[in-house]
Amino acid sequence: MDSILWQIREFAEIDSTNTYLAQEAQSGAPEGVVARADFQSAGRGRLDRSWEAPRGVSLLTSILLRPVVPLEQRFLVSAAVALSARTALTRLCGLQPELKWPNDLVVGDRKLGGLLSEVVGDGEGYVVGIGVNLQWPGPEGVGGTCVRDEIGVSIEPRAMLDITLGELGRRRPLLDSEDGRAELHQELVGALVTLGQVVRVERSQGSITGTAVTLERDGTLIVATTEGNEAVRYGDIVHLRRAETL
Ligand code: BTN
Repeated sequence: MDSILWQIREFAEIDSTNTYLAQEAQSGAPEGVVARADFQSAGRGRLDRSWEAPRGVSLLTSILLRPVVPLEQRFLVSAAVALSARTALTRLCGLQPELKWPNDLVVGDRKLGGLLSEVVGDGEGYVVGIGVNLQWPGPEGVGGTCVRDEIGVSIEPRAMLDITLGELGRRRPLLDSEDGRAELHQELVGALVTLGQVVRVERSQGSITGTAVTLERDGTLIVATTEGNEAVRYGDIVHLRRAETL
């Protein structure tokens, strides 16, 4: 049974479901409010990028959660949503995407979806936005993919949202305890295709190359380079190849 009463608000068009829900959260909206749109005129991605999709071909949604989690484990809130979306896809159509650090859904090295998590106030809430390419692989030239191109199945955004929320209802209580958070962390490690890859980490101050070896309990990715271990907290990751030995 779901631990949360979901309240889904649907829009034919909106600027950004994250922007909308962050405002609602500031005004006291309860945990479980969800915004879904057929089209966003100002969709936002990570690292101040935009997120664009034609009408009706992607899941474009934001979910308000209000767990009390230690600062260093906040990343598990968006992880719970990413893992729920991943399982929802498997249940809906058999596709099993993997997760790419920090928060992408990928099939091979093709991006299927991404998450944008925003903290409300001092941690009184989290707006977790997720965009999943269902029937359109994303803008040209970015190497994206979609469910239809991968397995020839057209999934409706609302169907994917309903199953994702069912999955999230099961994971949400895990955020409330240390043991539960450890369980989520383990599920994340199992789904994270980045671990064991030789990666290039691209950040504004330059890039580093090494092997992604561990996901710390605070969400930091440890990358072993020829100069020693680097703790990576943000940035873009490029998977170069699987490491031969760890
Ligand atoms: C990324 O990979 O950069 C994250 C993309 C997140 C996009 C989703 S779509 C629904 C929600 N509303 C937004 O404006 N962004 C997120």
